[in-house]
Amino acid sequence: MKPVRHLFGIAQLEAEQIEYLLTLGASFIDLSRRPLRKAPTLRGKTIINLFFENSTRTRTSFEIAGKRLSADVINISAATSATKKGESLLDTAQTLAAMRPHVLVIRHSIAGCCEFLAPYLEGTAIVNAGDGAHEHPTQVLTDLLTLRAHGGFAGKVITMVGDISHSRVARSHLLAARKMGYTVRLVAPKTLLPAEVERYGCEVFHDFDAAIPGSDVLYMLRVQNERLTSSCCFPSIREYHEAYGLNRQRLRLAGEDCLVMHPGPMNRGVEIATDVADSVQARILDQVEHGVAVRMAVLTTLCGAHAMEEEA
Ligand code: NCD
Repeated sequence: MKPVRHLFGIAQLEAEQIEYLLTLGASFIDLSRRPLRKAPTLRGKTIINLFFENSTRTRTSFEIAGKRLSADVINISAATSATKKGESLLDTAQTLAAMRPHVLVIRHSIAGCCEFLAPYLEGTAIVNAGDGAHEHPTQVLTDLLTLRAHGGFAGKVITMVGDISHSRVARSHLLAARKMGYTVRLVAPKTLLPAEVERYGCEVFHDFDAAIPGSDVLYMLRVQNERLTSSCCFPSIREYHEAYGLNRQRLRLAGEDCLVMHPGPMNRGVEIATDVADSVQARILDQVEHGVAVRMAVLTTLCGAHAMEEEA
């Protein structure tokens, strides 16, 4: 297997590398359930989380993942960084890289920023924690680990519903589906679908009810108001919820074996009804738990590849 030096996106990974990260991730689940949640794996390693966009789950889980493995973890958010004083992203990243962290985890609104920065940051592994509407590889790894714990993902049908155009999670799943052998169905109004999305080999629906039969997972997405340039994508929240929200009736149509997933943050009453979000079929908090384990796997893998290069 080729070593994973940076994690820019699912596009860069081979199926074998994804399987490797999932297997390693699975081995870390137990650590977070022990009374003493600490292992020495990343002792002496420094990880910087550099977040220019809001985040609860991703940032915290990278921090917990690093700390549970004994790394030194530093968090920087846009509100307190020198970019507020006019410093460019490249200067900020180079400044942090000069402090010699092993890993820099970056979330930014610019698609492709991690690949752009990497050649300037020698000796530092980069993890994409979400770049604009482009990719969110650790969320997809999180979801696949969750599905692995619930009967696997190969041959399954994951129906993703909502704001596909702005969703880096959907884009990364479309790339992963081909590599890992599952099917993605997309459900959205035309105004929330990217042009020529069928190129990814997915099935596209505008009618949610038509997409439900045969779905193994109903994966709900938030409407990303922060990325919408106009408010004309759907008439009102009430109508959106009626057409594209997951309610009890739709969950019944899906059947009791169908899982409900959401990358968070949820907007209850918009893309998902409260009773569905809290139902036994919802795996949303499992996703959060698995997110820590998968990020432990990512950090361990990148630090390992980095150590091999340092020794060479
Ligand atoms: C997603 C993101 O930021 O892309 N959230 C997450 O990382 N768990 C989805 C979203 O913001 O709606």
